[in-house]
Amino acid sequence: MVVTMFEPVMISPSILSADFMNMGRDVAAIEGAGADWVHVDVMDGHFVPNLTMGVPLVKQLKKATSMPLDVHLMISNPLRQIPWFADAGADIVTFHFEAVSGDEAFQAIETIHGLGAKAGVAIKPGTPASAVADLVPLVEMVLVMSVEPGFSGQSYIEGSEDKVAEVVQAARACGVAPTIQVDGGIGMGTLSRVVEKGADCLVCGNAVFAADSPASALSEIKELSSRVRDMALQGPEAL
Ligand code: DX5
Ligand code: ZN
Repeated sequence: MVVTMFEPVMISPSILSADFMNMGRDVAAIEGAGADWVHVDVMDGHFVPNLTMGVPLVKQLKKATSMPLDVHLMISNPLRQIPWFADAGADIVTFHFEAVSGDEAFQAIETIHGLGAKAGVAIKPGTPASAVADLVPLVEMVLVMSVEPGFSGQSYIEGSEDKVAEVVQAARACGVAPTIQVDGGIGMGTLSRVVEKGADCLVCGNAVFAADSPASALSEIKELSSRVRDMALQGPEAL
């Protein structure tokens, strides 16, 4: 008999694709539809070419929702600004491996933890999983970018799922199980590729907010991703 263990996949909709003039409405819609986290894409116009949102919005979101705030920092010098975001109410603070050098990654993780938040480390498409092997046992989340960071609505980069598998392997080798988040071009057509390889948190921007009904789109993504994960856990014959 196959024992089925239901393992929901978490969905963290990216509000970069929301309607900025109706942010409260859009956040309430995803909360009502069962979003697990809210993904907040912070860009500084330097680490990436785009400029987006910052501390004031994180503070407002903290008051407006009880969903955990998943803050993705696409900024240079993250060490300087991590305390601002943690103090503003970020529950998960993710910095980019490519934005730090020397022992700054360790300092960043220590700072995030010291401020009571969960730490995530993100890698761009060109960065191998092996680059963060030392950090995997220290963080609560590893974010695998499946597009070049900077803009929502891009197409999923084929092969990103292999990096998800490598991160899962690296985590298993250390006996840890951080959340494996995938960000970029994820929707109904691409999610199974990464979920089958072990992704357990999906960031979805356009797939949710560009839909006619973000709430229905989110429910469909949540349902399909958890079904794919459940089948993957039962073994290849179930897929
Ligand atoms: C890209 C951002 C993503 C983006 C995702 O740099 O980190 O979170 O908003 O948007 P979609 O899902 O539309 O690719
Ligand atoms: Zn993001």
